[in-house]
Amino acid sequence: MCGIVAYIGKGQAYPVLLKGLKRLEYRGYDSAGVAIASGGQVQVFKKKGRVSELEEALTGREMEGHCGIGHTRWATHGEPSDINAHPHTSSDGKLAIVHNGIIENYSQLRQELLNKGHRFQSETDTEVLIHFVEEVRNNNRCSLEEALRIALRRVVGTYVIVILDGDHPDTLVAARKGSPLVIGIGNGAHFLASDASPIVEYTKEVVYVNDYEVAVVKADELILKNSSNEIQTPYVQKLDLELAAIEKEGFPHFMLKDIFEQPRTIFDCLRGRLDAAHAQLTLGGIRNHVEALKEADRIIIVACGTSWHAALTAEYMIEELCRIPVEVEYASEFRYRNPVIRKGDILLAISQSGETADTLVAIEGARQQGAIVLGICNVVGSSLSRLSHEGIYTHAGPEIGVASTKAFTAQLAVLAMFALKLARDKGSVEEGRFRELLTGLEGIPARVETLLEQNGKIAEIASRYRDSRDFLYLGRGYNFPVALEGALKLKEISYIHAEGYPAAEMKHGPIALVDENLPVVILATRDRFHEKIVSNIQEIKARKGKVIALVTEGDEIVPSMADETIRIPEADELLAPMLNVIPLQLLAYHIGVQKGLDVDKPRNLAKSVTVE
Ligand code: M6R
Repeated sequence: MCGIVAYIGKGQAYPVLLKGLKRLEYRGYDSAGVAIASGGQVQVFKKKGRVSELEEALTGREMEGHCGIGHTRWATHGEPSDINAHPHTSSDGKLAIVHNGIIENYSQLRQELLNKGHRFQSETDTEVLIHFVEEVRNNNRCSLEEALRIALRRVVGTYVIVILDGDHPDTLVAARKGSPLVIGIGNGAHFLASDASPIVEYTKEVVYVNDYEVAVVKADELILKNSSNEIQTPYVQKLDLELAAIEKEGFPHFMLKDIFEQPRTIFDCLRGRLDAAHAQLTLGGIRNHVEALKEADRIIIVACGTSWHAALTAEYMIEELCRIPVEVEYASEFRYRNPVIRKGDILLAISQSGETADTLVAIEGARQQGAIVLGICNVVGSSLSRLSHEGIYTHAGPEIGVASTKAFTAQLAVLAMFALKLARDKGSVEEGRFRELLTGLEGIPARVETLLEQNGKIAEIASRYRDSRDFLYLGRGYNFPVALEGALKLKEISYIHAEGYPAAEMKHGPIALVDENLPVVILATRDRFHEKIVSNIQEIKARKGKVIALVTEGDEIVPSMADETIRIPEADELLAPMLNVIPLQLLAYHIGVQKGLDVDKPRNLAKSVTVE
């Protein structure tokens, strides 16, 4: 989704903005722009396409100024174009704005402003907003800060806004509601951004602005005020992020780096929590809700996309180990369908970014109805972590590739620990089984390491199937959500149509698609369904389908039937998804790369979906 970066300080703004825009590219965007205040003027440059195209267009131009704002846009109102790109300006050209979010009542505001003589160049809600702020300022003869506060009382929707004023190049004014805004505190400078990635190389001291706060930012001063105009004390936090974590470090793509980091990220996720030798599991983040969890009649899990696939896996884990009914919901459906929530219900919200709009609204609604909200999230300090009563961080580190990979396996690791911990607290799991799973979980990072050695082989398999028009992914039990995730990865990265199905459902429809042109990826690792999966493979082969099978090391039956075999280290079926998804991530990655696609920034996708 849209990304914001802004700078005010003693140095030149443009280099900071440009570098910041490049750091924000991973969020997904279709155009980019900057505005710089200098000599009483506001210079605005914006362009459809990549940040590199904007940079090229600006090469050789004087880009002087100590105060500037930048933006990468992901179109919502109006097609991707130079005109619709941000920043947008007021009628007099003195104010420039960058905005992330959606102004839901923009058409009403637009009409009112048109009646008052305002004229708009773009189709965006953002241009309406800056004209509205200008109108309020002129009518009330007040400061920009005051005008923004008054204007926001009328605004319905979500936003992070940063406004620059050509007449006051010593000040930036910013506000947020529903989308994150981080302010980095430098030496005689401040850096504002939608996430920490454009800030980390300048400072580790940051302030996360809260909803409804307005920030007035100068080079050496930061004033935060709430909606009642009361000054708030900024809570300065130390950023737990290294620059290396957001650079490629020799990998050709962030996605491949993310995939190859998984032995370490799963290890980091387990570290300090799991101690197999002493059969101990500690999840400090949910320590105050142990009793509520033990007594829960049911657990509802809300999430979107890949996180929803992790939620489905959790349903299998929790029901098996804890014997508590679990309902898994798409957050986007849950928030609108008036769900039955009882006081004391546990709502587990899963999100990599912690900023997914549908998930946030779903948990707000559930909280209002008395649910206990526990968040599972990767981004420390995200909106989800603030909205949850308690929660568990996945500690996968910044995931830069748009396609979620390492965040998924870290979510699975957290969910396995969650289910095991709850099962032990409830006494619903035998001690032997508990210890066996703990030891198995501890061994996962090493097994992932071994699995990654097949990267070259998977690239070869990719080369044989990259021109296929469709793919089918099949799995049963714990492998069914993995089949869904494998299909999603392929769709996102290679733009090939792919469907994930429970293998037994194949006969109820998808089998009609099977012919010699259809690759079918079958998750056939050893579990309680193994014989049934073998029958499914025979059914596909009988119709000349091409079988790409994932099998447990030592299995010789499936390889004798399959066209391609990927061998997976032995693991308990409950833990196997953390291994089985990895070749599917690599398959999608290699097909995307071999088709010449931009795997880190797939078309139309955004890293965190901050609008509904
Ligand atoms: O940040 P979240 O986990 O809440 O994001 C949810 C989905 O938008 C996300 O998983 C999306 O499906 C990814 N592109 C998957 O690769």
